[in-house]
Amino acid sequence: MRISVLGSAAGGGFPQWNCNCRNCAGVRAGSVRCKPRTQSSIFVRPDKSADGVLFNASPDLLEQIRARPELQPARALRDTAIAGVVLMDGQVDHATGLFMLRERGTPLPLWCTDPVHDDLTQGNPILRVLGHYCGVDRHRIGLDGTAFRVPGVEGLSFRALALSSKPAPYSPHREQPVDGDNIGMLITDLASGATAFYAPGLGAITPPVFDAMAGADAVLVDGTFWTDDEMPRLGIGHKTARSIGHLPQSGPGGMIEWLAKLPARTRRCLIHINNTNPILDEDSDERALLTRERIEVCEDGMLIPL
Ligand code: MLT
Ligand code: MN
Ligand code: ZN
Repeated sequence: MRISVLGSAAGGGFPQWNCNCRNCAGVRAGSVRCKPRTQSSIFVRPDKSADGVLFNASPDLLEQIRARPELQPARALRDTAIAGVVLMDGQVDHATGLFMLRERGTPLPLWCTDPVHDDLTQGNPILRVLGHYCGVDRHRIGLDGTAFRVPGVEGLSFRALALSSKPAPYSPHREQPVDGDNIGMLITDLASGATAFYAPGLGAITPPVFDAMAGADAVLVDGTFWTDDEMPRLGIGHKTARSIGHLPQSGPGGMIEWLAKLPARTRRCLIHINNTNPILDEDSDERALLTRERIEVCEDGMLIPL
């Protein structure tokens, strides 16, 4: 399979429009060695197929499609390589790009869990609004471990895992998360047997999540924050990483420790990186530490063949 990283930043992107933190100011001025990034999304297709699955629809989706020619195979007057969209949560950075797909001639094939469907028809009724345009052909993602397929992308199989994280602020149960608010996805290439585990929002690594990670050829996991208090320490609000459902990389029990437990052959990639995270600076000590640990920092346009 081929995984294209369309967007590797967390909500807000990098640089974030209103931010003058060291990274955001530095990337604008060219004084910090780092690359701009759009908001969190990947496109996955089998090796021999033009058609694939879009994971998350970011507000930057149109820019991402323009930047990746494989998303527009141009086989007809109106065409797309996006055979279906799978949502990992119902947050703004992963769902508002659905509006950008409204010119379709047929209902948009969309896979999401029940809690995400509720949030996107009630608190933030994107799917109801889309009903006035192309409409949505919604498929339910169950959490019982049953594999599912996306028609048109027959070479891949998908299996969702409930993750410990947080639903969006407009969710009626924001402070009482339920299974299915956030999921991780195990993606299997049925021809080669290759597997990838994708979880851009991951608050805690439970035994089933670790098992899924350990069995995968590549993991693309939550790279949002380096430290739990990254934003409060900069004076940006009071939200800690863990309080909004993101496991920080550094420190005891952090993502780096978990990734070190994976088999040596596993490709380890961080994705959904917040603009405040020091790992964006390619000359930082934090980035050097990741390199020593053989942990990659996803960039927009990165291709991961498996
Ligand atoms: C998150 O991942 O925590 C959210 O997407 C943050 C946001 O975009 O507001
Ligand atoms: Mn997010
Ligand atoms: Zn910033």
